[in-house]
Amino acid sequence: MKNILMISIAGTEINFLISMPTLKAYMNQFEEVRSQYTFTILDFKLIDTIDYIIRKIKEQPVFNILCLSSYTWNKERIEILMHAHLCKDIIVGGPDIPENCNPHDSSYTITKIEGEGEEKLFYSLMNYIPPKQTLAEKPSAYLTNSVNENVINDKSMCINIETMRGCNYRCAYCAYHKFLDHIEYRDRDVIVQEIEFLYKKGKTLGLILDSNFFANEQRAVYILDKLTDLNIHIKFDIEIIGSFITEPIVQSCNRYMRNGGDLLIATGIQSINKDVLKAINRPPYDEKVFNEKIKSIEKIGAMIRYDLIAGLPKETKSSYENSIDYVINLLRYDRSCPGFSILHIIPFTQIAKNVKELGFLINNIGVVLSTPTMSQEDIIECNKLNLIIRRLFDPSDIDNNRKEVRCLYFKLKDKYHISNVKLLTSIYKLVETEIFKKRSILNGIAESRLIWTRMRTEIPYDKLLNILENL
Ligand SMILES: C[S@@+](CC[C@H](N)C(=O)[O-])C[C@H]1O[C@@H](n2cnc3c(N)ncnc32)[C@H](O)[C@@H]1O
Ligand code: SF4
Repeated sequence: MKNILMISIAGTEINFLISMPTLKAYMNQFEEVRSQYTFTILDFKLIDTIDYIIRKIKEQPVFNILCLSSYTWNKERIEILMHAHLCKDIIVGGPDIPENCNPHDSSYTITKIEGEGEEKLFYSLMNYIPPKQTLAEKPSAYLTNSVNENVINDKSMCINIETMRGCNYRCAYCAYHKFLDHIEYRDRDVIVQEIEFLYKKGKTLGLILDSNFFANEQRAVYILDKLTDLNIHIKFDIEIIGSFITEPIVQSCNRYMRNGGDLLIATGIQSINKDVLKAINRPPYDEKVFNEKIKSIEKIGAMIRYDLIAGLPKETKSSYENSIDYVINLLRYDRSCPGFSILHIIPFTQIAKNVKELGFLINNIGVVLSTPTMSQEDIIECNKLNLIIRRLFDPSDIDNNRKEVRCLYFKLKDKYHISNVKLLTSIYKLVETEIFKKRSILNGIAESRLIWTRMRTEIPYDKLLNILENL
């Protein structure tokens, strides 16, 4: 019998990764796998240091294969684990695998699993191709008890639900569509059973991992209506493409919300510049359609998150600022929040294949540092704006019914008749000098997630309010 140790490092403090349990559930359905392998998952959090992770791995009973799942936020730690001589046989998969997976010496091997993991892991362990299975036939990680007990029983931990793979669009920077040329769906009744099971365990927060949960109107309506009928009151974060909002979907969302549930609908704008959108394979931004559809969701009281990405091809600092200005004005609705980031180059995406030709400079984990149209200083300035926007319009303040900062922000903007970017820059300067003694702290781009965690604790709500009141 060979023991496989699977390492998951989550991207937030209240989340875990569903990828390893999904692989475990898939592998364990085969008797021939079960008779040869055992699978143990170790869950780590964003904040866990590499020393802590290594110590915990070393404390484990003997294992023969170490499986690592690499994402943008844990890539650096995964790279260290790959070469830490923890095991002779390493398998690394995930959407953002380190570019160089060559071992440093001959004492260990590294096998890369690219793309969808299930069949590839099976082949890697068993040396033959598994029987064909549709996504709907694959076993549920939750209903097969493949997720660790402590994760299931921790009520504060968010649940991750996958309902589909693939996407309607193929944006040049994105790996969410998982390189599928079509959309595959999971069994909708299994999804409802999973959510019901988790709700009964006391879970109140959920993340739908799909690229576009509204891709299929009938399925979205079916799932939402079933959850309403079952009296489930989980607050779900749902990623969607704005143009897929339809009247029946809005009605189902409304029923879910009226029955005590809550929804955060996250939708990508990415940029309002038409040349940028063309360069990333997205249709031009249609303000009228978008506004009508988003307004219909806004009306029922759902939270809305608008995403932008700085550093896209053809984007300039000034065109990014135009997008910021546009989106910040949408945040007057007090249940809206921003989801602004700096472009990451994710392996195998269309952009990743052309990074050199495009003239992009990236750091060791793929974060864009400069482009032909944005200098390093421009990217740093945009990152500062992203961070201060995130602090000012923090969705957790909405959850806690704290609206004063947002109201004051727009009062100041209206009083001085200035652009959002100007006002944000002034606020940022105050925050930087008053709160952060080390100026360099906000210059980091790669560490944005950690800097964000610090910003939240080092600029508490009252302090932020105080800064705005004295502006
Ligand atoms: C997976 S998407 C889902 C949203 C929806 N599908 C859409 O694009 O309208 C979630 C967000 O992740 C962000 N994102 C995806 N790939 C990214 C990358 N390579 N770098 C930075 N942000 C990225 C985008 O802002 C995107 O809106
Ligand atoms: S950014 Fe959104 S719409 Fe574009 S491919 Fe990714 S998931 Fe699909």
